[in-house]
Amino acid sequence: MSKKTFTLTNDQTGENWTFPVVESTQGPSAIDIRPLFAKTGHLTLDPGFTSTASCSSGLTFIDGDEGILQHRGYDIRDLAENTSFLEVAHTLLYGDLPNRKEKEEFEKNIIYHTMVHEQIHHFFRGFRRDAHPMAIMCGVVGALSSFYHDSLDIWDPRQREISAHRLIAKIPTLAAMSLKYMLGQPFVYPRNDMSYAENFLHMCFSVPAERYQPSPALVKAMDKILILHADHEQNASTSTVRLAGSSQANPFACIASGIASLWGPAHGGANQAVLEMLKQIGHKNNIPQYLEKAKDKDDPFRLMGFGHRVYKNYDPRAAVLKSSSDAVLDELGVDDPMLELARELESIALEDDYFIERKLFPNVDFYSGIILKAMGFPTEMFTVLFAVARTVGWISQWKEMIEEPGHRIGRPRQVYNGPTLRPVLPLKKRPAKG
Ligand code: CMC
Repeated sequence: MSKKTFTLTNDQTGENWTFPVVESTQGPSAIDIRPLFAKTGHLTLDPGFTSTASCSSGLTFIDGDEGILQHRGYDIRDLAENTSFLEVAHTLLYGDLPNRKEKEEFEKNIIYHTMVHEQIHHFFRGFRRDAHPMAIMCGVVGALSSFYHDSLDIWDPRQREISAHRLIAKIPTLAAMSLKYMLGQPFVYPRNDMSYAENFLHMCFSVPAERYQPSPALVKAMDKILILHADHEQNASTSTVRLAGSSQANPFACIASGIASLWGPAHGGANQAVLEMLKQIGHKNNIPQYLEKAKDKDDPFRLMGFGHRVYKNYDPRAAVLKSSSDAVLDELGVDDPMLELARELESIALEDDYFIERKLFPNVDFYSGIILKAMGFPTEMFTVLFAVARTVGWISQWKEMIEEPGHRIGRPRQVYNGPTLRPVLPLKKRPAKG
């Protein structure tokens, strides 16, 4: 326990209150203000959570100034180069990279849970064919809680573990089904003899009439994309999952809430928005005009795939993706003018004072869309892929929260700024408006 404290002074009365500091192992420590309201009668106000740690967590560390991202102490570049997605999933869920025996056991646990209840196929048929796959994902993932009653007791550690395995295993199956449904093709059942990434590609791209075998380079690229999106500290969707979970809601419902939160273009929806923006820009000659739009406060246009709440140097995930985009495009034999346009846009924006002063750099979504497009995914699927990977982070964060002794329901307060008490007037006496 830290001996450091902070003292708060009421400038009007001169009263002082002292609060303990909770030390971190790396990164900023926090002033523990839990007794603040009881002691002072005042709340703190921080609507975008720019100065608020909502929890303590041992999963992911980000240093935004240095462009560092680590999971359980392992650097993201090291993980992306030297491990598989399921090894990263094991690390997030259990705290460490698996040894050989643990790896085999974990992979078996996941790969043998990839099928979904056959009744779920009927669920899909209720959606319109032109439904956005994220809309389908919000619905079907929430619906999992109506199929797997035997793992809903959140106080039973074994049931928590089974739910976590089920979610990690079944989310690619549901994601692939949402793609197939959109395309009007038959659902493809998972194959237990394939790796996680290979099976996902198989379920997305094979059709019963033809043999499909993704190249090892494609499988590796898919696996890397999944690793890079696996977890990212207390972002909007993870905080949503934690808040939903704090009310003791079941894990399937919590993950569905995370998917809903991820969908927005300021968060996971940005990867789809980047491609739409590049299409809109169309040619490098139009870049200056769009940069002006992005800088104009009266114009809602923003440079999608640029900026981050925490990274103020470079998003390390974008760096890994940027360096692998060439290799992937070469392997696929794709010469995408969008990549050229994206690179040009990045280099012009990075020289521009507006972006320099605000420390706006490309984030993970800037390059992921280009790679996913080259792999053959339609743009509507980009955020779904993000959700597949992030399910690992969400469920690991949920598990960490439930297992923390003394955790309580998340219940923020507010500064009320509405009307004060007033009487209800009879209808005939209420004033005319407009
Ligand atoms: N284009 C133009 N201006 C921007 C951009 C952008 N992409 N991002 C931030 N700014 C400006 C913003 O207008 C503000 O300017 P000023 O100080 O003059 O008012 C300043 O930079 C700070 O921006 P902010 O909105 O206060 O920053 P934030 O931390 O609240 O928002 C963000 C972070 C990621 C939502 C934002 O940068 C953004 O909207 N980026 C585009 C969407 C995007 O790429 N999202 C993916 C994020 S990474 C993956 C993920 O989280 O899922």
